[in-house]
Amino acid sequence: RVGVCDCDIYGPSISLMFGSREQPMATEENHILPIEQYGLKLMSMGFLLDDSSPAILRGPMVTRYTQQFLRQVEWGELDVLVLDLPPGTGDIQLTIVQTVALDGAIIVTTPQEVALIDARKAATMFEKVNVAVLGVVENMSYFVSPSDQQRYNIFGSGGGEREAKRLRVPLLGQIPIDIATREAGDRGMPIAAENPNSIVGAEFNRIASELLAKLKG
Ligand SMILES: Nc1ncnc2c1ncn2[C@@H]1O[C@H](COP(=O)(O)OP(=O)(O)OP(=O)(O)O)[C@@H](O)[C@H]1O
Ligand SMILES: [Mg+2]
Repeated sequence: RVGVCDCDIYGPSISLMFGSREQPMATEENHILPIEQYGLKLMSMGFLLDDSSPAILRGPMVTRYTQQFLRQVEWGELDVLVLDLPPGTGDIQLTIVQTVALDGAIIVTTPQEVALIDARKAATMFEKVNVAVLGVVENMSYFVSPSDQQRYNIFGSGGGEREAKRLRVPLLGQIPIDIATREAGDRGMPIAAENPNSIVGAEFNRIASELLAKLKG
């Protein structure tokens, strides 16, 4: 029983990536019912606003939306609630750490220094508020060209590993740049579900199992 809460209020993507445009319903107690898709419970600003309507909100309002997503959504009994955060260390991130007790944070970065700078700041923020960093996931780690099977390190290499070492946490996985992954996401079908035996699908599923074991252990 897994829920995914898209806490990227300004740039939601969960609705598109999970292929649903359903409008969430409210209960009589004024709770929001999450959207159910592929056996997951989902909440995203993308279900409330269409893609051409920006969420034009100042800090206090974004704080209210974030709190509502966490407290006023009828998540029901879940084993895991995944919060997808936007980059940064601002109102959304601070509201989350002040509203719910987190089991841990996962840092996602590309191997490139400009991305690592932001990832490092996020990790430091979580350390400051005593949230354990469970590990680092490196995305866009490499690209294997379909024409010559050569491996290209487009965003450099070793960045995720170095950052994980510095934080003394595991490098949970490395996701290559992959055309099928991009296409599946745009089609609203996560690659891990559509093609669990592909390199990326298998890597996502392996990372999820490792995290689950870590959280249970
Ligand atoms: N490894 C990958 N291979 C191919 N496409 C990818 C890969 N990672 C991300 N993408 C594409 O980029 C889009 C955005 O990726 P993603 O949602 O992971 O960004 P993000 O890291 O959450 O961005 P932000 O930090 O701005 O929230 C995905 O929908 C997908 O189309
Ligand atoms: Mg995002």
